[in-house]
Amino acid sequence: MPRPETLLAHAGCSPDPATGAVVAPPYLTTTFERAEDGSYPHGYQYGRTGNPTREQFEETLNAFEGGAGCVGFASGMAAAMTVLQALPAGKHLLLPEDVYYGVQRLIEEAFDDRFSVSPVDMTDLDALEAAFRAETLLVWTETPSNPMLHITDLQAVADLTHAHDALLLVDGTWTTPLLQRPLDLGADLVLHSVTKYLAGHSDVLGGAVVAAEQSGLFDHVRSIQETGGAVMDPFSAWLALRGMRSLAPRLRVQCASARQIATFLDEHDRVETVHHPSLPHHPGHDIAARQMDDFGGMLSFEVQGAHDAAMEVAARVEVFRRATSLGGTESLIEHRASIEPEGSATPEGLLRLSIGLEHVDDLIADLSQALG
Ligand SMILES: Cc1ncc(COP(=O)(O)O)c(C=O)c1O
Repeated sequence: MPRPETLLAHAGCSPDPATGAVVAPPYLTTTFERAEDGSYPHGYQYGRTGNPTREQFEETLNAFEGGAGCVGFASGMAAAMTVLQALPAGKHLLLPEDVYYGVQRLIEEAFDDRFSVSPVDMTDLDALEAAFRAETLLVWTETPSNPMLHITDLQAVADLTHAHDALLLVDGTWTTPLLQRPLDLGADLVLHSVTKYLAGHSDVLGGAVVAAEQSGLFDHVRSIQETGGAVMDPFSAWLALRGMRSLAPRLRVQCASARQIATFLDEHDRVETVHHPSLPHHPGHDIAARQMDDFGGMLSFEVQGAHDAAMEVAARVEVFRRATSLGGTESLIEHRASIEPEGSATPEGLLRLSIGLEHVDDLIADLSQALG
């Protein structure tokens, strides 16, 4: 088995059988011709149920993640919605208190009457243990969390989850298998917003679910994808593969710059707190050092003076772009509390950074002038 970097460098580069093109073109077709006897000689019938480019994406991500199967979706939220649809009703779910707010909103809007849900501080294993019920079916977790970068011990959570006969889903969007391998640590499912680091250029929406093993639940996810139609379209799959080819060097630079920026902010007089697990005083530093290959390209910090001061800093940046999302080549800054629903626990003085590929000195100079 090639190393992940080698696998990624060749993503989508198995020569096109028709022409020998090293990068096969996207198969932008909605339907496939039958033979005279009515059969489908190439195994494809209709674009919703199967497409060679989408399959190539699914096979590549599955191999990268070390899974037994992968399903590609139109977005990360389509992936989340399909997993929730595939779960039997009447069960109990455990979610991190600071789960990505889109997932929390989706459950409230579409699944409120199907499941009971308990928010838990997943960094506190005693609290997690106490939250299980007989009908707990799924533990959903994210580490580092968004936007506070809390670190959850995945191996410990997987052991606890399995001791209660439940399943563990890890949202791996912020890390990709290059930084963290949830399946090796015991997760049953990994979810990705492909929109972020995997595709990596802020130009495609996509999502995916990878399973540790073939199971009835995974088959159900696949079948809802095909019948429900929240599929990754072939051009998005092609763009995602193109992005994945450069993931390893991108992420290396993003992580190195994020570490340097975290240290710069940590020493700045106008900054109250920096949340990045690379910092030795971060409460999750030791666990992150153990379970991650690097500390990630995302960080957040709290500015003295709360809301108004944070908004002023965001208004003054010139290299960072003021936008939501993450994982692209361009660095982004976001006042997170103002995009999250009312009542969110995100501090008003918090700014979230997604570190891109600009020279780190330019990013530090920009933050320095913005902080004044
Ligand atoms: C951690 C995480 N999971 C899931 C999603 C949803 O992904 P998408 O925007 O592709 O639907 C996001 C989007 O920001 C995210 O940050």
